[in-house]
Amino acid sequence: MTEARPLYKDLIKPVEERVEDLLKRMTLEEKVGQMCQYSVHPGAVKEFTHLLEKGLVGSFLNLLGAENVNEVQRIAVEKSRLGIPLLMGFDVIHGYKTIFPIPLAMASSWDPEVVKKACEVAAREASADGVKWTFAPMLDIARDPRWGRIAEGFGEDPYLASVMAWAAVKGFQGEELSPNPDKIAACAKHYVAYGGAEGGRDYNTVDISERTLREIYMQPFKSAVAAGVATVMSAFNDLCGIPASANEFTIRKVLKGEWGFQGFVVSDWNSVGELIVHGIARDGAEAARLGVTSGVDMDMVGDVYRRYLVELVRKGVVPEKLVDDAVRRILTVKFKLGLFENPYADPEKAKKVIKCREHLDAALEVARKCIVLVKNEGVLPFKKSLKRVAVIGPLADDKESMLGCWRGFGDPADSVTVLEGVRKKLGSEAKVLYAKGCDVKSQDRSGFEEAVRVAADADAVILVVGESWDMSGEAASRAYLDLPGVQEELVKTVYEAAAGRKIPVVMVVMSGRPLTIKRPAEYVPAILVAWHLGVRAGDAVADVVFGDFNPGGKLPVTWPKTVGQVPIYYNHKMTGRPPSSERFTSKYIDEDWRPLFPFGHGLSYTSFEYSDLNVKPEVVEPGSVVQISFTLTNTGGVEGDEVAQLYVRDVSASVTRPVKELKGFKRVTLKPGEKKRIVFNLPTELLAFYDREMNYFVEAGDYEVMIGSSSEDIRLKGRFTITRSEKVTDLRKVWFTETQVY
Ligand code: GLC
Repeated sequence: MTEARPLYKDLIKPVEERVEDLLKRMTLEEKVGQMCQYSVHPGAVKEFTHLLEKGLVGSFLNLLGAENVNEVQRIAVEKSRLGIPLLMGFDVIHGYKTIFPIPLAMASSWDPEVVKKACEVAAREASADGVKWTFAPMLDIARDPRWGRIAEGFGEDPYLASVMAWAAVKGFQGEELSPNPDKIAACAKHYVAYGGAEGGRDYNTVDISERTLREIYMQPFKSAVAAGVATVMSAFNDLCGIPASANEFTIRKVLKGEWGFQGFVVSDWNSVGELIVHGIARDGAEAARLGVTSGVDMDMVGDVYRRYLVELVRKGVVPEKLVDDAVRRILTVKFKLGLFENPYADPEKAKKVIKCREHLDAALEVARKCIVLVKNEGVLPFKKSLKRVAVIGPLADDKESMLGCWRGFGDPADSVTVLEGVRKKLGSEAKVLYAKGCDVKSQDRSGFEEAVRVAADADAVILVVGESWDMSGEAASRAYLDLPGVQEELVKTVYEAAAGRKIPVVMVVMSGRPLTIKRPAEYVPAILVAWHLGVRAGDAVADVVFGDFNPGGKLPVTWPKTVGQVPIYYNHKMTGRPPSSERFTSKYIDEDWRPLFPFGHGLSYTSFEYSDLNVKPEVVEPGSVVQISFTLTNTGGVEGDEVAQLYVRDVSASVTRPVKELKGFKRVTLKPGEKKRIVFNLPTELLAFYDREMNYFVEAGDYEVMIGSSSEDIRLKGRFTITRSEKVTDLRKVWFTETQVY
């Protein structure tokens, strides 16, 4: 009787075995080759053919298109000695070709399903086009809106960012890394504390306490690692004297040690080579030694590993086992992605998948949820029966800026501007007038007259102002946070012309960061924060302005009154002299200490009531769950979303603690008059912090519970007590507050 043929899956040995088998067949040169990544564009591929044929390239970034990817993959797989496939990477930050709202906007949805959906669509499109690795999610906590990269992350709060980090990793990778053709490897970046740059100036020095490092900046990365993120990117910045890309403490001790990270670390763009500029490496060889010793497994475009690592190992300066560990990690990701079985992309699939109807519809659903209504004095929503609507401002018809920074393979021609969205919404029955009014950045006021004429001739005015796509993202720090150019004057001029005729005005602010709009916010009656919302921006704004979607977003970052208040964030410390009207307290003599709009702020076209708070048990043992429940009622006339927020304050502890910390949230949809019971199941481990000896402890004591519609708009208060302190020993685990809605 013939042997039962083994199933194909049984022929596949466990990944670990395949990695070891391959590793022992590799030369030192081939091993180092896997640790090298180069940026290449279609026209430049031939420059790398000789390296590809020798198996000396591990990865390319920036090469897009199924055919282009297959061209280089074929050389690596079919021409080199061992045929190890390349890992093709790209910055798929908020969409591949179907561009979604920038991540800061997606954080404004306070809905992890929004982030997960956007990442799933991005992964499906990128993977179809041969990209199997994205350099996302960007998880840098940002408390300083001068820093342009605040646009790329999930805001100022570690809990909100940790929830979104988990969702992003699962969206890109699936439940776990696998050969799934619709999934790609994710990359948590920029590890670590890159957002803490002094002065908000990109690439600048970061010098913070280990406590702040661990409790604020590291938290979202820990969540991504617990979610199974395949890779982590080491950052550019000097971190307390040791650059993040040469930092054995953060990479080997914490990331790979305490958290047990099994994936690989890729440097940011030449950040290993830049150790020379930082002044801690005298030359490329020293930079390569520092990088690989600290745990950076792959050198992004620096070429220092290729040029120096083989010799450093041969001379015994770098133990070969460090190279082996790096290569194991890299090969493991390639095996898990199924690249050895299927290294090629299918051009036909790419044509079907990219920018398909389903994806474009998803982009609209996501964009609508990201819009934040920060002010509304009875003006919005506008009626769809309006006959003459003026759309005015430099961003009103700016197709490129709708896509925001890091638009990947996105094409501005695909984006719907606000002007286009309003015209589509109102159709031919209405007359939609348009005036640009001014440029985004120039001092030219010559367009004001036209703008005033158009406004005066309308029944309602939609002003669209803010930052162009290139004013946020990398290397786009700003020393001033006002509306750029003469836009503030345009707003005032148009508003006065309209108000004089009792014409309602809404200001739509599109930006990659909080802006200091204190002055226009004093008189403009309605303001929408629309960030940069992606290909369906105009449709989403039109849906909200004309009431087809009731905005439910909340701010994931504090909006300051003036740049002089920065850094300003909600989870600050009490100090010994908290700000008050008393003279000798912590405040300014020339500006209020409070923000313009607080973290978690966002209004609705309806209203919500919070009632019947119950906290049980009121006395808990560490390691248990505190159930915090309350009733949420829609007391208005239209269906709407509310993001109920749970804040906790550790009233007295062994070290100073924030005045409040977000420890749970839930976006809930309620019909008019509908009420639901919300239950936050708060694990006490979420209250852990680093004590005086830097042990991770849940401390005994009293805790104040605050339920709010924002970090300032607290509706319900309660308390509970933890009976005794307990050390948190499992440093790999992350905790979230599970929420039930009845
Ligand atoms: C850039 C960015 C990083 C990006 C990488 C590849 O310099 O810092 O976020 O992923 O290089 O483009």
